[in-house]
Amino acid sequence: MGTGVNRVRSQSERLLDDAIAALEQAGVGSPVADAEWLLSHVLGVPRAMLRRTSIDGTQKTAYLELIDARSRRFPLQHLTGSAAFRYVDVEVGPGVFVPRPETELLAGWAIEHALGLEQAVVVELCAGSGAISLSVVHEAPRSRVHAVELDPPAFEWAQRNLAGTGVDVRQGDMGTAFADLDGTVDIVVANPPYIPLDAWESVVPEARDHDPALALWSGDDGLDAIRVVEQVAWRLLKPGGVVGTEHADAQGESAPAVFSGRWADVRDHRDLADRPRFTTATRPAH
Ligand SMILES: C[S@@+](CC[C@H](N)C(=O)[O-])C[C@H]1O[C@@H](n2cnc3c(N)ncnc32)[C@H](O)[C@@H]1O
Repeated sequence: MGTGVNRVRSQSERLLDDAIAALEQAGVGSPVADAEWLLSHVLGVPRAMLRRTSIDGTQKTAYLELIDARSRRFPLQHLTGSAAFRYVDVEVGPGVFVPRPETELLAGWAIEHALGLEQAVVVELCAGSGAISLSVVHEAPRSRVHAVELDPPAFEWAQRNLAGTGVDVRQGDMGTAFADLDGTVDIVVANPPYIPLDAWESVVPEARDHDPALALWSGDDGLDAIRVVEQVAWRLLKPGGVVGTEHADAQGESAPAVFSGRWADVRDHRDLADRPRFTTATRPAH
């Protein structure tokens, strides 16, 4: 037998429950977390306290507008203006790729290598928001980090996120970038575009409609940019230097194959969901 007492739901609880239902209906992958993050953003309180926090009319209007935008599949991070990546936050919005949790492992691989060297020289190709470079200088502060991004709007986001960090951030094509560093680099890291052109339908609306095209697509097999990463890394790395590049989960064999032949210790790594995610290789010492 129950107690017969029905607790009255607070206004924020009702608002949250309606928002969760709306996001679910719109096909958003994580409706509870997203509804909570957005309310937390509007109220400026941690997620754990939301259901006990009161909300005024202006906040309610702002929240409903955000839920409407999220239902239309605007990326959560564009609505809050930032994306968490490892131990840092980067500012993001229209014109730049939103960094993904799976890339945190590739960044971690680069950081571990950098920490093992006295003063690692690190190059990030395809920097986007600068999340990987920012994590490297944050967690391996003795490193000297250089980053390149081709797309002017994305480059502006990278400049903003990397301002004051000492990272040498340049705008240009990775294929010809950093000629001044040829043969002197310890670590090359890249999360390049890697989606095959014909995979358009399999990409979620948040990415397809809001990540820049230059950040996503890369030729018929999705490997065009990774082939350039292989060439550039070979040119930049000193003997014994290492390269790591992210790839699609369907490229667990084809991406390492790009490094077969002249590279040593070619390995593929899985992400937290146990899907093939990034390839690493070493430029042989001789
Ligand atoms: C998948 S996004 C990754 C961004 C960021 N590194 C991250 O992990 O969030 C790929 C980035 O590569 C950039 N890009 C594409 N082709 C490039 C090229 N040839 N040279 C330099 N950057 C390029 C795109 O503009 C985009 O910002």
